[in-house]
Amino acid sequence: MSGRSIGGWFRGRRANAGASEPGTADESELAPDNIPRHVAVIMDGNGRWAKSRGLPRIAGHHNGMKAVKRIAKAADRIGIQVLTLYAFSTENWKRPKAEVEFLMKLPEEFLSIELGELIENNVQVRMMGNMEGLPGHTLAAVREAVRRTADNTGMILNFALNYGSRMEMMEAVRLLARDAARGELDPESITEETFESRLLSAGLPDPDLLIRTSGELRLSNFMLWQLAYSEFWFTDVYWPEFTEQHLFAAVREYQRRARRYGGL
Ligand code: FPP
Repeated sequence: MSGRSIGGWFRGRRANAGASEPGTADESELAPDNIPRHVAVIMDGNGRWAKSRGLPRIAGHHNGMKAVKRIAKAADRIGIQVLTLYAFSTENWKRPKAEVEFLMKLPEEFLSIELGELIENNVQVRMMGNMEGLPGHTLAAVREAVRRTADNTGMILNFALNYGSRMEMMEAVRLLARDAARGELDPESITEETFESRLLSAGLPDPDLLIRTSGELRLSNFMLWQLAYSEFWFTDVYWPEFTEQHLFAAVREYQRRARRYGGL
């Protein structure tokens, strides 16, 4: 186990210092029997966070990585079963080369520091995206993490890396079309389940709760199929300053909502 851990996965329960700050909540305010099974997060605002401090954008991404650790640990502690984090989109390649290179090193850095503790804590690491498009060093690191945690039965930490929802759905359509062309699939028999089984999220429940940070109110090509009935929660807080208490506020708000799935 590396001694360079960013803080340890399981810290003691935070003492409730009284009323929570607006937009935050304490863990003690959550109903333990209604924790969202799957929480998906669009981690936005790294660049603006850095700019607001006169720092280079990559400093924002680096602090964003620390927030990943913080939020994964808190999610695990309150019993979230799947945490999906949008780490790099298929559109993010349009960014300056140096920033893309930095972002492609982050999974490696994160896993070199945290993989030991993730294993110790029974966390299963998954990747959702076009793995073939990743640089070799990134691919090697994520493959190792996926392989070494494959048998873990605790929280699934699912990184959307080189991920785009339209790309994912087009590929699912191609897979179905190929099966149909080979005569192995009757087009009339295709159901939502058949389609879902070809998505990169196959086997995971749909997100119950979507969080987006930094004040932006859009989906940015993220899990468009899977988010059909999810509850959305937005905050102006930039991702690097997103704390456990912001996550708890999102979960508390989720617990106040009535999910009707189109019914009454
Ligand atoms: C969006 O902020 C953030 C990203 C494109 C990268 C997200 C990556 C991390 C938080 C680190 C990932 C860590 C691991 C372990 C994979 P932005 O740069 O678009 O911010 P801006 O809108 O303020 O410019």
